[in-house]
Amino acid sequence: MSNGTVIVTGASRGIGEAISRELAAAGFRLALVARSADRLAALAAELGPGGEVQAFPGDISDFEDVQRIVKEVHEKFGDIYGLVNNAGMTRDGLFMRMSPENWQAPIDINLGGTFYFTRAVAPIMMRARIGRIINISSVIGLTGNAGQANYAASKAGIIALTKSVAKELGSRGITANAVAPGFIATDMTADLPEKVQAVMLGQIPLKRFGEGKDVAGVVKFLLSQEASYITGQTLVVDGGMVM
Ligand SMILES: NC(=O)c1ccc[n+]([C@@H]2O[C@H](COP(=O)([O-])OP(=O)(O)OC[C@H]3O[C@@H](n4cnc5c(N)ncnc54)[C@H](O)[C@@H]3O)[C@@H](O)[C@H]2O)c1
Repeated sequence: MSNGTVIVTGASRGIGEAISRELAAAGFRLALVARSADRLAALAAELGPGGEVQAFPGDISDFEDVQRIVKEVHEKFGDIYGLVNNAGMTRDGLFMRMSPENWQAPIDINLGGTFYFTRAVAPIMMRARIGRIINISSVIGLTGNAGQANYAASKAGIIALTKSVAKELGSRGITANAVAPGFIATDMTADLPEKVQAVMLGQIPLKRFGEGKDVAGVVKFLLSQEASYITGQTLVVDGGMVM
C-alpha cells in the first residue's frame, strides 16, 4: 500500500503540504492538487523527482475540473488508493451580517469540493475494491464558533458526508474517516489577532499550537494497514482543546 497512489487536495501549503511531505517520505505515489500551479509544480519536483509525485492544478469547487483531474491521475498512475480532501478556506464574519455569497463560499469549496472529489474517485476505488477516503474537517465543525457559522456548517457537513460515504462504500472495502484539527499554525491561522491566539492557547491542555505534521501523522495512520477496521470516525487532533 505504501506505493499506492494518493490524491492530496490543498497540497500547495499548510497542512496539505505537511501531509504531502509525510506521505512522500512513506513511499506513496502522490497527485498534488491546488490552484497555485507554480507552487504545486515546485513541491512535486522536490518530493518526487522521479515522477512519483506530480502536480494537478485545478479548482476543487468546479465538478468538471475535478473530473478532469481524477481522469488524468487515473491515466497517469492507475488505481487510486487514497483520497485526502484537505483543501479549504474561511470567510469569517458574524452570522447576523453574513451575506448569502459569504455563506456560500466555504460551503461550495470545503463541503462541495469534498463531495466532488469523493464522487469522482469512488467508482475507481469501488472497482479496485479497496480505498481510503480521509476528509479534513475541523473542531469548529463539532463545536460551532462565533464568526464562523458558514465554515462551521461546511465542516459539520463534511463529518456527516464522511459517515454517509462510510456506510455506502464499506461493503466495497473502502473506509471513510474525518480528521478534525484544532488550532494548527498555518497561513490560515496566521491572520488571527494576537489576542485571539493567546485566548486559544490558554484553552489547549498541551500548551502549544499544532503543526502540520501533527495532522499528517494521523492521515498516514488512517492510510495504513493498522487502520483498516476504522471507518466513519472523526479523529480530533487538537492538543485536548475540545473534549
Ligand atoms: N489551520 C488550522 O488551524 C485548521 C484547523 C482545522 C481545520 N483546518 C482545515 O485544514 C485544511 C487545510 O488548512 P490550512 O490551514 O493548511 O489552510 P491554508 O489556507 O494554508 O491552505 C489551504 C489550501 O487549500 C487550497 N485551496 C483552497 N481553495 C481551493 C480551491 N477552490 N481549489 C483548490 N484548492 C484550494 C489552497 O490552494 C491551499 O493549498 C482546511 O480544510 C482547513 O479548513 C485547518
